[in-house]
This record gives sequence, C-alpha cells and structure tokens, in this order.
Amino acid sequence: MNRLFSLFLTLLMLLSCTACVGRAAAPDPARGQAETLEASAPQPREPEEPSAPAEEPPVQPEEPYVRVIDPSKPMVALTFDDGPDEVCSGRILDILEEYHALATFFEVGRNVLACPEPVGRMAEMGCEVGSHSNAHKDLSKMKKSSLLRDLDTADEAFTAAGAPAPTLVRPPYGAVNKTVKSATGRAMVTWTVDTEDWRSRDAQKVIDYVQNYGELDGEIILMHSIYESTVEAVRVLVPWLQEQGYQLVTVTELMAYYYGELPQPDHFYGYTYFATHDRTDTPIELPGMHLPEEPEADPAPVPEQDPAPDPVPDTPEVPSAPFDPTGIVAAPEPEPEPEEAQEPAKTPEPSVEAPTEALPPPETPAPPQETPKAPVKKDTGKEPLTPSFSIPNPAMFYP
Ligand code: NI
Repeated sequence: MNRLFSLFLTLLMLLSCTACVGRAAAPDPARGQAETLEASAPQPREPEEPSAPAEEPPVQPEEPYVRVIDPSKPMVALTFDDGPDEVCSGRILDILEEYHALATFFEVGRNVLACPEPVGRMAEMGCEVGSHSNAHKDLSKMKKSSLLRDLDTADEAFTAAGAPAPTLVRPPYGAVNKTVKSATGRAMVTWTVDTEDWRSRDAQKVIDYVQNYGELDGEIILMHSIYESTVEAVRVLVPWLQEQGYQLVTVTELMAYYYGELPQPDHFYGYTYFATHDRTDTPIELPGMHLPEEPEADPAPVPEQDPAPDPVPDTPEVPSAPFDPTGIVAAPEPEPEPEEAQEPAKTPEPSVEAPTEALPPPETPAPPQETPKAPVKKDTGKEPLTPSFSIPNPAMFYP
C-alpha cells in the first residue's frame, strides 16, 4: 500500500514537472512582442546621439521655371548688337537670367569666333542669336557673292559656338538695298526704338530714353552689348519693364505673338513694317512655348448641338499641339491705336521713307528704302535707314 502510494506520488511529481517544462517552453505572446519591439526599436546608442547633427531641412525640389507668354499682354523685344563681348555679354545674360527674361543678340561673326562662350550660353538660355554679318561691313555696298560669303562665314562661327545658324540678320548700320532685303535667304530685321547707347555711353541717358519713350508694346529696342554703360542700363531697365507689365521676348517671339507671323527669308522687317502693323488677333505659337491656360476656352462642356466645331480659324503653320487661338486672344479689342496714330508727327515723305528728323540715325550710311505708309502706329522710332553721313560704328573700334 505504502509502495503504491509512493509510486502515485512519484507519478504526480513527474506530471507536474512536465507541465512546468511545457509552460516554460510555450511562447509567451506578450513577451515575444516586447522582444520584437525592442529589437526593431531604434537602437539608442546613447553616447553618439547628441553629437549627431539636427535633421537636415527637407530638400525642396526646385520647381522648374515655366515660361508663359500671354499674347494679349504687352511685350517688348530687347536687342543687342555688335557682340559678343568677353565681359559685357555675360553680365547682360546674368541679368536676363535673374529675371527670367529673354533677348535677341545680333552678333558679329568674327567676334563670335574670338569669343564663342557667350553665344553658346545665349542659345542654351533660349535667347535668340541673330547675325550681324561677319565683318560688320555695309552690306548694301557689297556684291551679292561677297555678301553671301560674308553671311555664310558668320554662320559657321555661330554653329561652331553652339548656336543654330541664324535665320535673322540685322544689317550693320541698318543699311540695306534690294539684294540685302530680299536675296540672302535670311530675314532682315532692324529696330524701332534706338537708345543711342553707343553714342552717349551713359547708362542714365539710356534709362531715361526708354522710360520716357511712351508706349513700348510691340517695339524692338536697340542697344549694344559691348558697353559697361549699357550693362548698367539693362540692370535697371529689365526689372523696370517687367514692373510696367512688359513681357521681355525675342524678336521671333514678338513677331509670332504680337504681329502674328514668323520672319520669312528674303523679307525685310524695318521701321515701316513695325509702324504699320498692329497687334494680331491670331498669334502664332512657337514650339516649346507655354501659353497661359484659359479654362473657359475649353470646348469640352459645349453642348452636343455643336458637332463640328471647326477649330481651324486661321492659325496656319503652328507646329505643336495644345494651342487654341480662340482661347488665347481673349478678344483683344481692335485697338484704338489707328485713331491716335493720326497725329503722328511725321508726315509721310513722297519719295523718301525716312521721317525727316533733326536727329540723324547712327548706323546708317545706307540709301533710303521703303516708302512710308500713312497710318503710323508709333511715332517715335528714328528711321534706321537714312544715309546722309556715315558715323563709324563703335563695333569697328572694338577688338
Ligand atoms: Ni552694329
């Protein structure tokens, strides 16, 4: 009996031990969790922590600047001749870049060869690079063959510098004849507002002239990128023009958005052209340009009654897609300009196009061209194309 009892006891003990072992081996969920948390928690590494620098400020991904041109708003084209210049060109580009502005540079081929760097940068920035010939000679006095050779030589310098071969040419001194105007395979463009920066070399005079000019919408302003005084003027004028609401565009942009056409080869765009054309209501969109979005212009919500909305008013050679001419030009009223244009001081000359004015234009030993048209929109531009006497072009003295 005793023996039996002790056997029972032994069995009992054995059983309880097994239970103990079993319990111990069983996973304790709470504990397991705690261990897991502990393991995944950031290791405190006490001593090093304090020395670690504060969290870096979140890096703001820089928003790419999107250039928008509104064809219904004022715009003006700054143009710079006679460069590139080792010092001044870069400074002008710095200013333009700072204000997200573009301009057109009519560069002299031989100068490009000597100083190509700014030209590559201009092209990269989206500025327009035009040709100002290769040797800055009076093109109207050259034989056609040498004239073409000169322009071709310049083109080689431009392409070597990283810019496309220019489609625009500004003839030195504004001097043109029939061949220059219409037989070079290029578009010839002069200007409408002459700051005479080459003559005064005085930044304040240039600033005053532009600021007191009056309406600048649609104008092409002439400056020269080889004078420190001009750089200083640009530093003031670029922000000032923008504050006045002017968009700073290239010549081709001005032609497309304001005048509604692209510069054509063998055409001459001189004072008369710009004076007798008003803002278009069918601007042309250039590739890569962004126009302001006008939600109501979207034809989507229009009821179905209008099945074939015939979206082809009259914008012809528009290359890329999303341009909706009807949307952009929010009905720019036919401007009242013609009326006020009746008072223009200049009476059209019967035979000579140049308005008779006291101030002889600077770069112009050329014979008269173009016959004046009566309704002149703007009255200020000094006709670039009056000869009378020849003033040495500053560029000729420039290395
Ligand atoms: Ni020049």
